[in-house]
Amino acid sequence: MCTILGSTIREKSVQESIKKIIQAGGLIVFPTETVYGIGADATNPEAVKRIFEAKGRPQDNPLIVHIAEKKDIYTYAHDVSERAEKLMDAFWPGPLTLVVKKKEIIPSIVSGGLDTVGIRMPSLDVARDIIRAAGVPLCAPSANISGRPSSTIFDHVKEDFMGKVDLMIDGGFVEIGLESTVIDMTQPIPVLLRPGAVTKKMIEDALEMSILDATEDDVKDVPKSPGMKYKHYAPKGMVYLLEGEKKRVCSFINEQITSNQTIKIGVIAPHEYLLEINANYQVDLGSLEHFENIGRHIFLALRQMDELNIEVIYIPALSNQGLGQAIMNRLIKAAGHRIIHL
Ligand code: TXA
Ligand code: MG
Repeated sequence: MCTILGSTIREKSVQESIKKIIQAGGLIVFPTETVYGIGADATNPEAVKRIFEAKGRPQDNPLIVHIAEKKDIYTYAHDVSERAEKLMDAFWPGPLTLVVKKKEIIPSIVSGGLDTVGIRMPSLDVARDIIRAAGVPLCAPSANISGRPSSTIFDHVKEDFMGKVDLMIDGGFVEIGLESTVIDMTQPIPVLLRPGAVTKKMIEDALEMSILDATEDDVKDVPKSPGMKYKHYAPKGMVYLLEGEKKRVCSFINEQITSNQTIKIGVIAPHEYLLEINANYQVDLGSLEHFENIGRHIFLALRQMDELNIEVIYIPALSNQGLGQAIMNRLIKAAGHRIIHL
């Protein structure tokens, strides 16, 4: 096992090691613009099996196949619709995964037994260089032990996978910090399966139509993603989401801290909230004015709470609009649906 810097991927010797490892069925942890991934040859079932083992991931939860060129989708999928092509043109390379009909070449272990496959073309140059060097598409779930927050910095992938993979590539702090948007393009009307940086509105604008949304808990009769039923993103501490006006949320937290001095309480919140909170342990998500920055820091913040052995974590609920939908989706999962209405 060794680690290398993302910036050295263009060196011939590095590209050759990547190819050798992947073609021998090995595992590589690498950065993308969304989160770090743990990748293997998507056409080699034995290699893919090793990903599930390394992550401790349930086998019915399918993996995303990463490609380096748009046209490669036709090698791995059939019946790619015009609508899917519209989205590829609008958002690829980028943080959008299209669920399409899979061809035989993609083994069923990748798709969790489904006849569809999630495909995405990452926008981070290093990620595409790695796929090109590998010479095969890479299936890559987020690089975290199953159930833990996704990794957005290199230290966190090291924590989870040191000694368990063949190569780790250090790309620093990722750009987006939330996993890609997943959309099912095999249905008569596209279905949003996981919100991400490509928002529902951006998709609807590109397609000039309304899409279905399977990410809300109360939505019935739309196909769901296997991944949706698993508890995700949970830190070790107990997370509570606090819904309500800022003043009330801040006083609630202050009261809890004062009256429970034997418990290690942490707060993850935008800057504007922290100005009104007296916590010993806090992570500042930055200003409410910059939702991208908040999104980028969510998983980092959850992991930092673990590093401090925080027992109870309070997080204010934020707006559910735009990128807020992806942020709230991750926070609700981190909180195991524990929401306090104030
Ligand atoms: O940003 C990302 O997408 C990252 C980076 C590494 O690219 N990857 C990632 O993979 O988040 P993972 O495995 O953690 O999440 C894949 C999600 C799961 O919720 C899974 O259920 C869903 O995509 N998915 C994959 N293939 C699917 C399919 N054929 N049908 C429905 N859902 C699918
Ligand atoms: Mg994941």
